[in-house]
Amino acid sequence: MTDSLIRFKHAAVGYGRKPVLTGVELSVERGAFVGILGENGSGKTTLMRTVLGLQSCLKGQLSFSVPPRFGYVPQKERLDTVFPLAAYDVAAMGTYRRFEFLERLRGREGRSLVERCLADCGASSLAARPYADLSGGQKQRVLIARALAAQPDVLALDEPLAGIDGATQRAILELLRKVKEERGLTILMVSHRIHVERGLFTHVLLCDGGKAEIGPTEEMLAGGRLKALFEHEG
Ligand SMILES: Nc1ncnc2c1ncn2[C@@H]1O[C@H](COP(=O)(O)OP(=O)(O)OP(=O)(O)O)[C@@H](O)[C@H]1O
Ligand SMILES: [Mg+2]
Repeated sequence: MTDSLIRFKHAAVGYGRKPVLTGVELSVERGAFVGILGENGSGKTTLMRTVLGLQSCLKGQLSFSVPPRFGYVPQKERLDTVFPLAAYDVAAMGTYRRFEFLERLRGREGRSLVERCLADCGASSLAARPYADLSGGQKQRVLIARALAAQPDVLALDEPLAGIDGATQRAILELLRKVKEERGLTILMVSHRIHVERGLFTHVLLCDGGKAEIGPTEEMLAGGRLKALFEHEG
């Protein structure tokens, strides 16, 4: 029997009264590494934000076998504008708990957690640097450290590799592989680069034409179904 951690039933997701995806019936197993794929505007971010509880289903239900704790790396992070923060402070934001905004982990315990997460992400040497001065790849490492500092059960990453060079992309993917193994995380990751990440994803969640569908990676990629999405990758 599969352990279905996240489940959508007869759901519609979107904004105001306008659905972006309808008839959403899907479940995500605990421990899965799900690649969320689809064209621009197909609803990937909307679906992820719904899973995170940042917006509600317009219809139907989203349920969890056990309510997970989330770590989130949003698309095109807007923290860039928070210029006075050091990288350490950005990573430390992860320790704000979802329903305990004021209970930021303080003192030695919180500090060693943040330091450990930065170290796991190869970002220890960046800790004291102003966040705004970091390169794209360095920022992404700090943001992943921040998500890990939330001590999540589910790590949700929205296009974490956008604008990152090949070597850093591989380093970040290796990092995700490692933390998933070590911490038994479930990972949801929006991506446009299936060729690079194919071996990592246990499942592919495809958003297309107002519908969402999930299945084992090889099954979802069989028969050139996703060809149109990735033909530019050759
Ligand atoms: N805050 C919002 N209010 C109303 N409509 C929105 C809002 N955010 C997104 N949309 C619309 O919802 C649809 C899905 O957007 P979404 O951001 O989920 O797409 P996406 O698959 O993540 O695209 P991309 O690959 O470009 O990131 C789009 O048509 C978009 O214009
Ligand atoms: Mg998006």
